[in-house]
Amino acid sequence: MDSRQNVPLLPMMANHQKQNMREHLIAVQEIVAGLAAGDFDAIDKASKRIGFSEQMGMMCTHMGAGAPGFTERALAFHHTADTIGEAARKHDAPGVLAALDKTLTTCTSCHATFKQHLVDEAEWSSSTPAGSAAMPMPMHMHGGPMRHGP
Ligand code: HEC
Repeated sequence: MDSRQNVPLLPMMANHQKQNMREHLIAVQEIVAGLAAGDFDAIDKASKRIGFSEQMGMMCTHMGAGAPGFTERALAFHHTADTIGEAARKHDAPGVLAALDKTLTTCTSCHATFKQHLVDEAEWSSSTPAGSAAMPMPMHMHGGPMRHGP
C-alpha cells in the first residue's frame, strides 16, 4: 500500500538512520524553543546539528547508495538547514522562521518520496553500485551518543 520509493538499508543502517531522524526532530524543537526565547545562539547551535558537514555528506551518500535521488535530497536538506544558522547569526527572527519553513519542506518532501527497505548483505551488494558494499560504514564519524553494536 505504501508506494514510496525504497531506500535499501542494512538493519543497522536503518536503525542508525531512524536515530538520526529523531535527532533531526530534536534540533527542530530546539530551534523553535530558541525562537520563542529570542535566544539566537541556541538557534545557531541547534541548526548546526542538522547543518552540512563533510561527515554528514559521507553518511548521506552511504545511506542513499541504493536509492537514486535520496542523497541529493539529503544534501539539499543539510544545506538548507545551514541558512537557519545564517539568519540566527544576524538576529533575524523572521529569517530564521523562513529558513526553518524551507528546511521542514525538505523533510516532508523526502518523507513523501522515500521509505526504508530492509535488506541483507547480499541484497545490499546487488542494490548498490560496486564499491559501496566494500566501503566501510562511516558510522564512527557520527559525533552523537550512538551505539552501533559490536
Ligand atoms: C533525504 C530524506 C530525508 C530527509 C531530508 C529527512 N528525512 Fe526523516 N526520514 C527519512 C526516511 C527514509 C525515514 C523512514 C521512513 C519510513 O521508512 O517510513 C525517516 C523517518 C523519520 C522519522 C521517524 C523516526 C523513527 O524513529 O521512526 C522522523 C521523526 C523524521 N524522519 C524526522 C525528520 C526531520 C525532522 C527532518 C528534517 C529536519 C527529516 N526527517 C528529514 C528520510 C528523510
